[in-house]
Amino acid sequence: MEMGLNHKTALVTGSTKGIGKAIAMELAKEGVHVLINGRNEDEVERTVHEIKSNYPATSPQPAAADMVDIEQREALFLKYPHVDLLVNSMGMYEIMQYEDVGDEVWEKYFRTNVLAANALSKFYLPQMLKNNDGRVIFIASEEALMPSGQMPQYAMTKSMLLSLSKSLSKLTIGSEVTVNTILPGPTLSENVQQIIEGIYPNEDLTFSEKEKRFMKTNLPQSEIQRFIKPSEIGRLAAFICSPYASAFKGSPIRMDGGMIPTIF
Ligand SMILES: NC(=O)c1ccc[n+]([C@@H]2O[C@H](COP(=O)([O-])OP(=O)(O)OC[C@H]3O[C@@H](n4cnc5c(N)ncnc54)[C@H](OP(=O)(O)O)[C@@H]3O)[C@@H](O)[C@H]2O)c1
Repeated sequence: MEMGLNHKTALVTGSTKGIGKAIAMELAKEGVHVLINGRNEDEVERTVHEIKSNYPATSPQPAAADMVDIEQREALFLKYPHVDLLVNSMGMYEIMQYEDVGDEVWEKYFRTNVLAANALSKFYLPQMLKNNDGRVIFIASEEALMPSGQMPQYAMTKSMLLSLSKSLSKLTIGSEVTVNTILPGPTLSENVQQIIEGIYPNEDLTFSEKEKRFMKTNLPQSEIQRFIKPSEIGRLAAFICSPYASAFKGSPIRMDGGMIPTIF
């Protein structure tokens, strides 16, 4: 499906790996000029080259910055003052016991997973409204709707993104701009793959066998009984960025592999 995104410009935060990279790839496939972000400059350059060689008609650009750092964010705004599409994918996560989550951890998660995305939206959304064109997407998680209790500090931030997304969507009333949230379920980013390999270090199993065993033991509620591929989330994000999705307004859009057991 041709998505009508040719020659748009997108900033995808955290796009050197995992879900963010897959979103950048799917957007580039649609002719979007993507700004590649991560803290590691070499990885940013490598990803820019990879996208350029796969999609030579597009102009991917490096946007290395720590999005939690105010000065680095402002430098990025000066370098790239306009984007048509903003995908806030960067986020941190880690299994933690509630008792171990001190105030400094709550604050770190809030700054990283919420305030960084809010600052980017605050900067880019007004121009989108002025142009009557644009997309803001937040990448949340099924933990936003269904906290497992295994990562309370993370689940809180992802629920907050749903609220923020709806509040920002209220600013878009009557315009073609949309603000939405995608809720991926467990997704096979490099990070998650390493975690799974680490759980079965000495066993003579293929990755697919490890994945099946992990799903059966740890995530029996998943209806797909496999991890979601980052490209599946990437394709969904490209669709939400497209003009065909302009009636999604402030929506929580689930691609959770059936993890959440309720109808809504
Ligand atoms: N994987 C899952 O199962 C899953 C499920 C639901 C939701 N999610 C959400 O999806 C998003 C991506 O997850 P993922 O697993 O694909 O992530 P990931 O593989 O860990 O990738 C994280 C990306 O963000 C960059 N990054 C980290 N901190 C940054 C910072 N302060 N400033 C700029 N870039 C930064 C990393 O590059 P550098 O390290 O070089 O900075 C990397 O490119 C997250 O918001 C996560 O909560 C993931």
